[in-house]
Formats: sequence, structure tokens, C-alpha cells
Amino acid sequence: MSQNYTIALLPGDGIGPEVIKEAVKVLGSLERGLELKLTLNEVPVGGAAYEVDRHPLPPETLKTAQEADAVLLGAVGGPKWEKIDFSLRPERALLGLRSNLKLYANLRPAKIFPALVDASSLKRELVDGLDIMVIRELTGGIYFGEPRGVELLADGTRRGFNTLVYTEEEIKRIARVAFDVARKRNKKVMSVDKANVLEVTGLWREVVSEVHEEYKDVVLEHMYVDNCAMQLVRAPKQFDVIVTTNMFGDILSDEASMLTGSIGMLPSASIGGNTAMYEPIHGSAPDIAGMGLANPLATILSVGMMFKYSFGLEEVNAKIESAVEAVLDQGVRTRDIMSNKMTEVSTQEMGDKVVAELEK
Ligand code: IPM
Ligand code: MG
Repeated sequence: MSQNYTIALLPGDGIGPEVIKEAVKVLGSLERGLELKLTLNEVPVGGAAYEVDRHPLPPETLKTAQEADAVLLGAVGGPKWEKIDFSLRPERALLGLRSNLKLYANLRPAKIFPALVDASSLKRELVDGLDIMVIRELTGGIYFGEPRGVELLADGTRRGFNTLVYTEEEIKRIARVAFDVARKRNKKVMSVDKANVLEVTGLWREVVSEVHEEYKDVVLEHMYVDNCAMQLVRAPKQFDVIVTTNMFGDILSDEASMLTGSIGMLPSASIGGNTAMYEPIHGSAPDIAGMGLANPLATILSVGMMFKYSFGLEEVNAKIESAVEAVLDQGVRTRDIMSNKMTEVSTQEMGDKVVAELEK
């Protein structure tokens, strides 16, 4: 019996549509090879949606996402929309999708491909074999805390404020995700906080330790965020799973990604609700949009994560990862990962190479 899955496609802005196009090729190839029936529902998001509906996350887009089995998103944002009201910026669409779909856990793997070890900004011996999973809390913390805003004081000057808040339940559920993921890896969790200064992350540390009682087979350690930022560039291979708050995770996952050579290589999964969302972690890169220079591999690897986490087909993820690895081993590179003696290809050619590898 063939399986049916509905995927909401949200290409978005900048290089989003180009990289999604390559991912769609891969989906088509998988559909042919695996007796799957995939229904792709494409809807606008971010600036592209704002142009049509004057809103970055129109109700139709949200509904299509909610009704799908999984969401694949390209990227949102660009200089064109930088001056519009905060509440209507393309980036708000991401936050709206995360909170409406209840995607409280963001998995951002930073895994190095052997062929790209020399593209890292760190020495080969520090990153060879690197495989870290950053788990970022995604629907709480300072990104969503109230009160927030900018107010006018009596003396005519302004005061801006946001609130960093976590409930015990929010901490417990993200901790469980981290321990569950660690169980399938090297069974080590580093919980990152700023417990020496912020009460809320003192609570974070306490609650993560309490949840750990149920996961004695996993090793738990704690680290302050400033030290973690430093350790990531000093000795990154000490980490297996890192679990942290929304904003610390935003920052540390960018840092971890760069260790692998290119942010253009890294996929992500946002899970926790009924429908999970998958996206490359690079942004919309408006400077290279439409030029065929974007690296589609992060989006293609995000498709792999979709099969693993949403459809329970871990072997499809493995197949995609091997295809990407094989293409890199052939010396094929998009410009962001280009180096000496390699062959530079366009976004589209890279997609074709992966499909050819999948169909071998
Ligand atoms: C990310 C991005 C987003 C975030 C922005 C675009 C809202 O930086 O997904 O890491 O801060 O979460
Ligand atoms: Mg970020």
C-alpha cells in the first residue's frame, strides 16, 4: 500500500523559491522511487505574502500549514520590507507559524561532511567528525514574553523592554526532547543557561536536572552561555546535544553552523505540535537571490529530516544524506562551499546531481 502525505510548501523570499524548487525535484524523485503519494500545496509566506495580502502570514497560508502532514519552508525577509511595521515584517510569519503550530522544539544539527572539513574556519583536527545537535526552545522565552514594547517616559525619553519568562512545563517538555534525542546519539546533554545571573535560567537548570532523574542513562551537564560560546570554537567536539533557551539557541546555533564550513549546508526541524516544520537555517540571502548561486543542500537535507521526524522513515533521511555526501565527494560545489580544484555548479545543477545520485 502506498503512503499519502500532504506537504505545505512555503518558498517565501530571496533564495527561498530557488532552493525549494530543488527540494521539490528531490521529493518527485522519492515519490517515484518509494511508492509514495505526495501532495504539495504551495502558499505564499513572508514578504511574498505581504505583497499579495498585506500580511506575512495570511489565514490561508496558516490553514494550509496546519492541515498538512509537514511544512517545508524556504526563507523569509529582505531589504524591501525592512521599513514596514514590526508586526507585519516577514520574520513575524516564522514566529506566527512556530507558535500557531506549537513547535516548541527546534532541532539544528551541525554535522560536518568529510569533504567539507577544510571549508571550516577552524583547524581540521578540531572539526573533523563534528556532529552536534543544538536543541533550541522555540515558542517561549524572551521572543514571546510579555510585557514587551517601547514606551515614552514622562521626561520625553524612550524605554524599551522585553520579558524573559519560562514556566516549569515549558522547560520540562524541551528537556524531554533533548534527553530523547540524546538517547539515540551519544547520550550526552549539555544544558546551557545563565543561571549565575538570571533567575529564570536558574529555574531552567533546576527543572532540567529534575527531568534528568527519568533519564539516568544520559549524562547531563550544565554550562553558562558565555562559556558555551567560547567552548564551541575552542573544542566543539566535546558536545553531543546542546539544549537551551530560545534566544541563546538562536545565537549558539548560528555559531555551531559555521563550524561546518557553510551555513548553506544546514537543515532544521521544528517539532512538538501535530504538524512539524522543516527549513534550511540560512536566511533569504537577498544579495544572491535569483542568480542561481544559492546552495540547495540545506533544504534538501531538511526534506531528509521531514522523512525522519514526520513520516518515521529514517532510511529515507539516510539515503538523502548519502546522496549529498556522494555529490560532495565528486567535488561538486555551489559557490558558498567552493574551494580549489572543485567544480562550481548552479543551484539547479546541484539539485540535479543529488537527484541523479538518489536514482543510481
Ligand atoms: C532563526 C532566525 C529567526 C529567529 C528570525 C528570522 C526571526 O534568526 O530562525 O534563527 O530569530 O528565530
Ligand atoms: Mg537565527
